[in-house]
Amino acid sequence: MARENGKIYLIKGAYPGEIVDVEVEKNKKDLSFCRIKRVNKASASRVIPLCKYFEKCGGCEWMNIKYEEQLKLKSDIFVDQMRHVAKIDINRPEIVPTKAYGYRNKMEMAVKNEELGFFKKSTHNFIKIEKCMLASDPLNMLKSTVEKVLKRHEKFASTVEHVVFREASGKTMVIFISSEKITPPRIESVDNVVTLENHSHVVVAGRQRIHKGSGILHINVNNVKYEIPAKAFFQVNYSGARELANIVKEYVGSGEKLLDLYCGVGFFSLQLSKMFEKVVGLESSPSSVQIARKNAKINGISNSQFMLLKVQDWKQKAHFDVVIVDPPRSGLERGVVEKIHALAPRKIIYVSCDITTFARDIKEFMKNGYVVEKVKLVDMFPQTHHVESVALIKKGECT
Ligand SMILES: C[S@@+](CC[C@H](N)C(=O)[O-])C[C@H]1O[C@@H](n2cnc3c(N)ncnc32)[C@H](O)[C@@H]1O
Repeated sequence: MARENGKIYLIKGAYPGEIVDVEVEKNKKDLSFCRIKRVNKASASRVIPLCKYFEKCGGCEWMNIKYEEQLKLKSDIFVDQMRHVAKIDINRPEIVPTKAYGYRNKMEMAVKNEELGFFKKSTHNFIKIEKCMLASDPLNMLKSTVEKVLKRHEKFASTVEHVVFREASGKTMVIFISSEKITPPRIESVDNVVTLENHSHVVVAGRQRIHKGSGILHINVNNVKYEIPAKAFFQVNYSGARELANIVKEYVGSGEKLLDLYCGVGFFSLQLSKMFEKVVGLESSPSSVQIARKNAKINGISNSQFMLLKVQDWKQKAHFDVVIVDPPRSGLERGVVEKIHALAPRKIIYVSCDITTFARDIKEFMKNGYVVEKVKLVDMFPQTHHVESVALIKKGECT
């Protein structure tokens, strides 16, 4: 971001401290969006990106800057967004790094002419990809296997729009997504083969059919076992997930009743069940709720209850000691902050994967008399601008 005479220029691909020539791509009264024409003075932290698709694919927009600098930038941006959107000054938070490459346990790819690739960000330009440097080795191997299958089965390949790859504990899953009812060919070296007949714009959705395996992966995080079904959300970076769980544990303390909003397959509920007498999770995805209940059972946890419900539709007003929220990127729906306030919790833990919607929601919490007491970031998404934040929010004065 650069400023001149009160006007803001957002320059795609430039780093703080650099001097660049730009071309304005979109001009508004107080804000212009620009692209770099020439870098006159580059940041000392710039490096040559390791991936040959850098810029073409657009997924890892920060791969040309040192990892340590990425971490610093993420905490700087966090502080900046809190100042500009939430209107509070906070100290630069600690950021926990994870593996810089090969960390993703899930990868969504598009299919074109029997080949697998990504669409360049915000475009329909297909880029064939041999190997994604963010994906784990098992995922890249799985991708090669499936591409060979697609090449051998052209007719089948022509019906597939997207392929999702997932892996956990050495087991793999491939999900073929099509607007038609499809039957995949036999794939020897894959543990689970699933198809989704999908008519929506969301990639991982639609009617599921299991063609091989159980359609479920298994992972153990901090000695809690989780089943992950094909369509369910699970943190895409397993070591980051462990870090996240540990921070949430540290912030939560203990109490009588815990409410876990946007609970997915029960990730936080089950990590924390021993610290509470009762745990209630709310989630809008039917398969996730079903598996959250099963996950409680396989861990011998009997004090948890999972409900299929949109958080904004929850009517109950019983008191909860602690409320955890971990919404999608869009943040909390309108009215959710007031709903949480009505439960009079001692603590709220807000886990977020989007700094801007997080800062917007914090502003709402502050209107209701809450303050942010502690924040930590976990770098769940190295090489990209995304970061996960965990905040402890309480009533009263900031300490
Ligand atoms: C970021 S994920 C977090 C899941 C879980 N806390 C975890 O760590 O695995 C957000 C979850 O919210 C669910 N979700 C999205 N909108 C929702 C809503 N309005 N009400 C309840 N759950 C919702 C999604 O299905 C997804 O499982």
